Amino acid sequence: MLKWRELYDECIQCHKCNLGDKRNNVVFGDGNPRSKIIFVGEAPGADEDRIGLPFVGRAGQLLTKGLTALNLVREDDYYICNICKCRPDNNRVPYEDEVEACLPYLRNQVALVKPKIIVCLGSTAMKHILGNDFRITRDRGKWIEKKGCYILATFHPAALFRDESKKVLFWQDLKSVKKKYDEIEKG
Ligand code: URA
Repeated sequence: MLKWRELYDECIQCHKCNLGDKRNNVVFGDGNPRSKIIFVGEAPGADEDRIGLPFVGRAGQLLTKGLTALNLVREDDYYICNICKCRPDNNRVPYEDEVEACLPYLRNQVALVKPKIIVCLGSTAMKHILGNDFRITRDRGKWIEKKGCYILATFHPAALFRDESKKVLFWQDLKSVKKKYDEIEKG
């Protein structure tokens, strides 16, 4: 396991898959690395690739708005990153080999943060964190406990633009995350 500095340095120079050739920036992660919650998305979009930070585009702003309303602030309360650190062309779902190449970075990030809560944003994160048997429409909002860590999957915030009806469930899930966070804070 690498320490933060070594991990970051290795990741920003990475060319383990083809996504490395086309990126403008590696989107390593953001937020508080000493927090109790990690949010994990799929892969950077165009805005993230341009700026070098996760969830700063339209979907990210929607997520940030919801979390801010619950008093969860990126700099203080959570760490946020993606399964893949580089942008796939046309925002396609990353290929299996791209995910496999990138997952060791996420595993190392999780090992360093030691979160009590992991939130999977969308089915790509859910599949690679919880496993292939999970389905986002059926299993979102359910807490799964693994080795003392509570894991929950919810919709990817970008999915809310395609289907407004998902907003209610997404909001319900964010509130459930906040409740779990408060319970853990109180010990
Ligand atoms: N979608 C993601 O999954 N991650 C980002 O960082 C931005 C959009």
